[in-house]
This record gives sequence, structure tokens and C-alpha cells, in this order.
Amino acid sequence: MSNFLFKSLFQQHVKSMFSKSNAIIMRHYKDTALTEPIPFSKDFLFRQMFDPVSCTYTYLLADINDKTTILIDPVMEWAERDKTVILELGLMLKYAINTHMHADHITGTGRLKCLLPGCQSMISRSSGAKADIFLNPGDKICFGRHNLRVLSTPGHTEGCVSYVCDEQGIAFTGDALLIRGCGRTDFQGGSAEVLYKSVHSQIFTLPLNYRLYPAHDYSGRTVTTVAEEKAFNPRLTKSLNEFVHIMNNLNLPYPKMIDKAVPANKVCGLYEIQDAQKQ
Ligand SMILES: [Fe+2]
Repeated sequence: MSNFLFKSLFQQHVKSMFSKSNAIIMRHYKDTALTEPIPFSKDFLFRQMFDPVSCTYTYLLADINDKTTILIDPVMEWAERDKTVILELGLMLKYAINTHMHADHITGTGRLKCLLPGCQSMISRSSGAKADIFLNPGDKICFGRHNLRVLSTPGHTEGCVSYVCDEQGIAFTGDALLIRGCGRTDFQGGSAEVLYKSVHSQIFTLPLNYRLYPAHDYSGRTVTTVAEEKAFNPRLTKSLNEFVHIMNNLNLPYPKMIDKAVPANKVCGLYEIQDAQKQ
């Protein structure tokens, strides 16, 4: 065989191997829940912070150009940490926002308003909690040139909302949808049927590659996607009837913090501070 013929056959072989492996990768990619994330804009700051006691995630988002900052689901005991991050980075906290009235920790919004005057608290109107600004479904929360869209996702509590940032392809789902799980539905006006409908109509209809950031994770995971939860969520991939049956038979213990956290969160976390000041 001439050198030329050998070279050309070899090149054809490599080419066909490459296209075969590409086809395999593409097939594999299509058959799995893997999706291509939308990269963050250069002027978008994202920080995920953690409270190891209640396994709560607090999210700091900011416009890097004009420094306007928001916090989602801050925790009272970590308000000083959040303040330090904000001041060190030269940011300005505009809003401290909750996804719902939490039962497992006291919100940091009240304390942050004291630590960083000028910041305003936000929660959904249907939450039943106090705040400076009440949110309704469809509202936009603006910080710098960025914004979050408010989705109504009740079921864990009556007033749960999720926040979506379409430009960055991310959503903050609170306790409505957790990674491979969901929040319990047996307190605070919860309803398994309502939660199922919320997740299927509001979150599972988002683009498959949107990254989902929950309010908690108890196994060290930090993020998921719409595609992953649609494929692997052990509860929400079931039928409505099966889901309701699962949720109504979890036999979970009474929430440890609920009697302390809910009254405090009804008044934006200030209950605890007022109480402490009296002593
Ligand atoms: Fe919750």
C-alpha cells in the first residue's frame, strides 16, 4: 500500500471514529438529564452561603457595576457574616428577601435592617408575615440592571414563592422544590396537592437547563436543574395521587423550631431581637 493511500485511509478512519464518538456523546447527552448551563453574566455576582444548624442556604446576588445587592433567605444568626461580606466587597444591600415564612430558623431580615440601614425586607403578600414590601406573583425585584421574577409556588406553606432570574438561567425554589425532594406539607397551610401543582406548573415548565437553588440541602448538595428534578425527583416524578399519598405518610416529627421561628418570622425576625433587648 502506498504511503499516500495509507495516510488517506487512516484519516478517513480517524474522521469516522470522531463522528461516531461525537454521536455517542450526543446520544448520551440527550438520554441523560445533563444540560448546558447558561453562564453567569460578567456583571452578575452570585454567592451561596450556608447555615449548618438548619442546613439553610442564603444567596447573595449583586450587580457588580452599581453594587446593588439582594439576599435571599438570610438566617438571623448569620446576619453579621452577611454584613461583613457585603461591606468587604463594597456592596450595598437593597433588599433582604424570604421565599416563605420559615419554620426551622429565624429570618435574618430584621437584624440585617438594623445592621445595614437602608435595606428593606420583602416577602410574599400571601405569606402572612410582616415586611416593608409585599410581593405578588409576576412582580419583578430589580437590583441594578438585574431582576428576579416572582413565581407563586404554594403548597409547602400557603405563601411560598420562587424567584427566577431568566438572564442567568437560575431559580430559587425555597422549600417548594429541594434537590431530589420537597418541603413537608403538614404545617402552615401546606397542601400536598397544591405543592404538586405548583412545582409542575411553575418550576417544571422552566427551561430544562435552568439551575435550581433550594432553601436547604441536608446532604451537602448545592444545586440541581429542571431536567434533573424532572427525571430523578423521587416524589415529584410520581402521579399526583402517589405524591399525595407519600406526603401524607411521611410521619415526620413536629418541627423543633416552629414555635419559636414562626412567631418571630411573622414580624420579620424582630421578635427575637425585641425579646433579647428586654432582658
Ligand atoms: Fe420552610
